[in-house]
Amino acid sequence: MKSSISFGFLLILVLPLILASAQDGKYERAAYHDNYEGAVQKDQDYEGQYQDQEKGPAKYDKNYEKERMPAQNDQHDDQGEEEDYHGPSLEIPTLLDNLPSDDLLSFGYYSKSCPKAESIINKHVTKWVEEDRTLAASLLRLHFHDCAVHGCDGSILLNHEGSERKAEASKSLRGFEVIDAIKAEMEKECPRTVSCADILTAASRDATVLLGGPYWDVPYGRKDGKVSNDKDAELVPMGRENITTLIEFYQSNGLNVLDLVALSGAHTIGRATCGSLQYRLYNYAGTGRQDESLDYRYANFLKRKCRWASEYVDLDATTPRTFDNVYYKNLQDKMGLLHTDQSLYSDSRTSPIVDALADAPSDFFSHQFAVSMTKLGNILVPAVQDGGEIRTKCYSVNSNY
Ligand code: HEM
Ligand SMILES: *[C@@H]1O[C@H](CO)[C@@H](O)[C@H](O)[C@H]1NC(C)=O
Repeated sequence: MKSSISFGFLLILVLPLILASAQDGKYERAAYHDNYEGAVQKDQDYEGQYQDQEKGPAKYDKNYEKERMPAQNDQHDDQGEEEDYHGPSLEIPTLLDNLPSDDLLSFGYYSKSCPKAESIINKHVTKWVEEDRTLAASLLRLHFHDCAVHGCDGSILLNHEGSERKAEASKSLRGFEVIDAIKAEMEKECPRTVSCADILTAASRDATVLLGGPYWDVPYGRKDGKVSNDKDAELVPMGRENITTLIEFYQSNGLNVLDLVALSGAHTIGRATCGSLQYRLYNYAGTGRQDESLDYRYANFLKRKCRWASEYVDLDATTPRTFDNVYYKNLQDKMGLLHTDQSLYSDSRTSPIVDALADAPSDFFSHQFAVSMTKLGNILVPAVQDGGEIRTKCYSVNSNY
């Protein structure tokens, strides 16, 4: 409590500094990161930028990290986020508005049947992410791909011929082995009790916290679906859609425009394969040029980085390892990696929200992200839940024999 209050106070003190120094230095940080990765930085524009703006940004990052620490620690063991939130407030829904509205989910769901469920999940996620930090983002994405198709029902985890997971659109999804490892221990501790959909939901929350993102309480009671079709995997947005399509897709899942913008903020961490964006770099939409909505120096950087479609590139070009709102600042600077990211800033229905999340302290984004993630995790299709089961292995449905 105490550290959170002083954190809020400090935030007010450093806010003008953060906002002022956030105005410049994006390329410098990108360049720094690129060098950090071991890649050789050759672009003259980048070099120039790097030297012109030597002072501000380093300071920005340093202050930023320093002030964030207490909040992170606080959030890990304190779940009373509403009371403790001292940042600026806009009119947004609170976590309390997002309690599961039906009777399917509840917070104490496993308190008697499997009291260790959450700690087992947390133990495994922590161990795997310590060994390979990139898995955290992958788990978060896996949860989105699960919930985006007939609700959070673990259908993405099924590994049979013709399943969502086997679809071309799912080929860069990762993290399945983490879920399988958790499930194996869970079955020993409390057999046939904890669903794979619940495990994936909690794992993506824990992964977010490990990355420095917010904590939120997860209600439980999801059932695992028995159906998974590769065609359905193509329903999940891939990055080329227009905003109307995205809004409609979110709406069909009970999510609104604010949720769309806030959840896209997950791209503050993680990577894309170059295959997802190369089409923006050359002959975009038959123009013979690169996508005009892409900053040209950033585009040059991407051209160097993306010689192969299988190469990885950070979704957040400036602070790829920090769970922060810099993703939105990148959009203001025409540095959204995916076309859908950048479109959030060119469409009048979403751009004011991008500005709000970019210009407020990062904590404001964290808070809204937790709110929207709770909604994402609560997407359930009643018919799927009615016909659902508790799988004993997350990669296959239970057999009837
Ligand atoms: C607005 C709709 C969205 C679109 C069009 C989209 C698209 C994409 C694409 C194309 C990639 C890169 C895939 C690749 O090339 O390998 C990606 C990665 C990622 N997405 Fe999204 N996404 C969307 C929403 C979300 C949401 C709602 C979340 C989570 C809450 C999310 C979390 C992630 C993460 C964490 C990664 C990085 C994964 C990794 O590093 O393994 N995305 N997304
Ligand atoms: C958005 O994309 C959909 C599907 O491709 C298309 O039917 C629609 O006309 C597009 N809308 C706009 C405003 O471009």
